[in-house]
Amino acid sequence: MSLPFDLIDGTLHAEHVSLADLAERFGTPLYVYSRAALEGSYGAYAKACEGRRASVHVAVKANSNLAVLNVFARAGAGFDIVSAGELERALKAGASPAKIVFSGVGKTADEMRTALRIGVKCFNVESIPELDRLNATAGELGLRAPVSLRVNPNVDPKTHPYISTGLKSSKFGVAYDEARATYRSAAQMAHLEVVGIDCHIGSQITEISPYLDAVDKLLELVEQVEADGATIRHIDVGGGLGIRYNDETLPDIGVFVRAILDRIDTRGHGHREVLFEPGRSLVGNAGVLLTRVEYLKPGEVKNFAIVDAAMNDLARPAMYQAYHAIDPVSPRTMSPKVYDIVGPVCESGDWLGRDRSLALEPGDLLAVRSAGAYGFVMSSNYNTRPRAAEIMVDGHQAHVVRARETVEQLLAGETILPA
Ligand code: LLP
Repeated sequence: MSLPFDLIDGTLHAEHVSLADLAERFGTPLYVYSRAALEGSYGAYAKACEGRRASVHVAVKANSNLAVLNVFARAGAGFDIVSAGELERALKAGASPAKIVFSGVGKTADEMRTALRIGVKCFNVESIPELDRLNATAGELGLRAPVSLRVNPNVDPKTHPYISTGLKSSKFGVAYDEARATYRSAAQMAHLEVVGIDCHIGSQITEISPYLDAVDKLLELVEQVEADGATIRHIDVGGGLGIRYNDETLPDIGVFVRAILDRIDTRGHGHREVLFEPGRSLVGNAGVLLTRVEYLKPGEVKNFAIVDAAMNDLARPAMYQAYHAIDPVSPRTMSPKVYDIVGPVCESGDWLGRDRSLALEPGDLLAVRSAGAYGFVMSSNYNTRPRAAEIMVDGHQAHVVRARETVEQLLAGETILPA
């Protein structure tokens, strides 16, 4: 077996478990993750960090299933969270608070309070009003909040505009030219302690050079900020390394990590701790979405394969025109036709793949690849569709790590008006 999802005797397997068997046992649509794949990608980051004060903070937003987070926690990972909900998940999955960084552009005072009480490693702050609020909140609790400023280095990550975050036009981060003054303000706030600097330039980035440009800009700023009297203990370079969805070529995780660490070290900053916040590159190719063909619908200009997964299960194609490879679980020998793979939701935007050449019969199973990141976590109940179950495969074993939602659960919080 060369990949976490590979053909064995003509059927796609997750590790040693047949995806056809999983669909039979647990129904479809079904998210399936491979533990070995999760450990493999995390291991590649961890290995490249060895011998250096550098650590991996898994971006919980990419896949927040407790079992997935727990696999990383057991391997020693830290976590990057963006809400009180994600904080609770990370803790429940076994994260240690001292290894949690709290990112996000809109933290509420309640969220700050919770994270301060728990004692997270750092707040990644994105504006002066947020510094003010954090200072006041920490003051109320008699605490000092550890702070890093998310600086917007204004580099072009060369990715989809919806997932570029480091450009001047983006809502994220403190503008580069204002960052030094913002650090000065932070230093004057009694209940804050400046500890670091961070950035996150975008997602699904396929080249190392934008990161090196961002690192250069951050280091310049670190020198200025320290000249002003602050101490920057850590540099957090964010997440964003891409994965192969189709034909992208990507640096290996190890090559990527080493290139960043080498740049920081050769520029004389080797004594500083370095943080990475990867999401997609840890989980993206560790998961597939299994779906069954309900109908084949030939059309005048297009053939449609209508499947039982939809945009509510995997939003990326509808939201970003994202490409996900789609493979039959048990490939047929007959000649293929070109299909649009679409879901049952009442929207023309409800598609999972376009113009795919596949040999299909109704009832066939398809695996939508690279669905481990921003898959289940972005799913919704649109059209009152219960969310899919999630399975984690570990060698020959399959574990249900999230039960399929029921319509009853969906309606549970709703009431009608009194008579
Ligand atoms: N750190 C911060 C502050 C972030 O905002 C993100 C992702 C990450 C780390 C992790 O980035 P990654 O390594 O996964 O690229 N829903 C979109 C992706 C949104 C990414 C948001 N921020 C998608 O499906 O492509």
